[in-house]
Amino acid sequence: MVRADPTTLDATWNAAERHVLIARVGADDPAAVMDTLLSRWSTIVHARPREAESAAVLTWPSRDVELVPIFLAHGLAPRMVLAIRLAGRDCPDAAADVVVRRATEADVDAAVAMELELVRWNQTLGQMTERSNTAELIRAKHLADNRPWSWLAEVDGTAVGALNVLDPDHAPWASGMSSAGKAAYLSDLMVLPGRRGAGAGTALVRHVHRELDRAGFNAVLLHYLGMNPLAGPFWHRCGYRPLHTSWEVRPASHLR
Ligand SMILES: CC(C)(COP(=O)(O)OP(=O)(O)OC[C@H]1O[C@@H](n2cnc3c(N)ncnc32)[C@H](O)[C@@H]1OP(=O)(O)O)[C@@H](O)C(=O)NCCC(=O)NCCS
Repeated sequence: MVRADPTTLDATWNAAERHVLIARVGADDPAAVMDTLLSRWSTIVHARPREAESAAVLTWPSRDVELVPIFLAHGLAPRMVLAIRLAGRDCPDAAADVVVRRATEADVDAAVAMELELVRWNQTLGQMTERSNTAELIRAKHLADNRPWSWLAEVDGTAVGALNVLDPDHAPWASGMSSAGKAAYLSDLMVLPGRRGAGAGTALVRHVHRELDRAGFNAVLLHYLGMNPLAGPFWHRCGYRPLHTSWEVRPASHLR
């Protein structure tokens, strides 16, 4: 069981209490084995003192669909998808009036405002929670030595969208999440609500793909929410495919 530290963004991104199952099943009747394992896990989760804001989470390879009926039968639903895009794949061309540039310290207000919008969007979708310290923690993240690489999309000099990639020196784990080789992790993409559907998101992603490909990254990884109607189609169009799916139930007491 993992408790989100309220002094970090973990508490914004995740439920306060997470019951995480890391499972391996053999080749002989994996569905029956997983069914038994999940029943045992459910008993353990129900026996523990729980916070109201809790989740039970299990991550599984997206294309291993044989176990999907078992996950559903235990009350789990597919939520977060880890997706991968191999170097060279890209979205179709974007609108010409969008200028993409690296964000600087002078852009920190815009970066914080966009990321807060993203948190609120993900809160609507039932994933994140804006806390009293969320804005302050996002600002601190963008001013820290290990801050993400950030780009802004501008139309007529006004910022309309932002994209962050974790500094690969501080996110070496990204390369360990697939067999594709050296990987970067794209942590945030947001276009302001009134500016969507006009190519800003595509322009940002194409620009960053080019930079990462040139820098020798073999793959880009990111998470999107399965129930986000804007994200899935967008990322698939830009060359991403599901790698791992997080099956989750909230609150954890609803695990069957
Ligand atoms: C996902 C998101 C960043 C996409 O940004 P965007 O600027 O709207 O993206 P684009 O305009 O480049 O592309 C979006 C759609 O508009 C269409 N489009 C692209 N260029 C266009 C243009 N010049 N004119 C009109 N439509 C266009 C595309 O076909 C695309 O449709 P599809 O994804 O269904 O295929 C944006 O919807 C957003 O901020 N959503 C909320 C936050 C979010 O979900 N972030 C991702 C979290 S993982």
